[in-house]
Amino acid sequence: MTTPTALPHPVTPSIHEPGQPYVLGTGSDETFRLGLQHRLWSATAHALWEKAGVQPGSTVIDIGCGPGHATMDLAQIVGPTGRVIAVDESAAFLKQLHDGEVARRLNNVERVLGDVQELGECLEGNESIDVAYARWVFCFVSDPEAVITGIKPFMKQGAKFAVHDYFNYERSMTLAPRREAFTKVVQAVAASWRSRGGDTDVMGKLPGLLVKHGFKVTHLEVLQRIARPGTTMWHWPASFFHNFIPKLVQGGFITEGEATAALQAWAEAERDPASFIQLPPVYELIAEKL
Ligand SMILES: C[S@@+](CC[C@H](N)C(=O)[O-])C[C@H]1O[C@@H](n2cnc3c(N)ncnc32)[C@H](O)[C@@H]1O
Repeated sequence: MTTPTALPHPVTPSIHEPGQPYVLGTGSDETFRLGLQHRLWSATAHALWEKAGVQPGSTVIDIGCGPGHATMDLAQIVGPTGRVIAVDESAAFLKQLHDGEVARRLNNVERVLGDVQELGECLEGNESIDVAYARWVFCFVSDPEAVITGIKPFMKQGAKFAVHDYFNYERSMTLAPRREAFTKVVQAVAASWRSRGGDTDVMGKLPGLLVKHGFKVTHLEVLQRIARPGTTMWHWPASFFHNFIPKLVQGGFITEGEATAALQAWAEAERDPASFIQLPPVYELIAEKL
């Protein structure tokens, strides 16, 4: 454990220094991708927040908030009588969240730099959470159970845990017609996340873990989408693969030749208006603290 570096913007200091950086990186390409991703999935997020009871005055925690695209929407919804606690291990992302808050004139966000698997130590003093939200974070952590046990004491009785995450990612994400070079890359993505402790099947485990720790699952649904070339949703996988394929090569998960073949397969599909991609199924869950 090391002392966190001083940040040019105020955050609650971390007691954890992460060992494994976020596998997709925290550069401007990933920030842009997360922004596009949020835009494309924001209606889905808003619907789940509403179902989970987020409203003016609520206290919400955004677990693994990244640059804070959801955090800032939540802060606007809960308004001046509510607050949003935003936790991430990336100081760079929290700095971007700070800048976004300034631009949107928000003053109800508390940024916390730390490991979401150690929320018990990060959150001292915040014991009245109405809704905990985690989107595309459980799939990157090695101990999802620790996230649940860490947040539980800070949630009110009846509080909701709302999650968007993946199950069956590796077998589902498919170009149609199938292209072997692309399929190989999808398998490499899943392998690279697993190598850092992540799990593209994590949503399969979450209902059981939540029940084990005193929650009742009140909503569980899958959102299975496709995208066709020329649609805005096409840019979601496109931005992901263009950012991540070079990282897969750097990490030794695919060769340069396999990367070129996959990008060629993608470009061919993009030129063919009859092709489509089956996107990874996004699962959503709400669990109530009993
Ligand atoms: C795919 S991004 C999702 C960001 C945000 N939830 C969203 O939906 O836009 C995953 C985020 O989880 C964060 N993260 C991954 N593992 C973490 C950990 N153990 N502790 C804190 N943050 C973590 C990363 O830094 C990154 O910001």
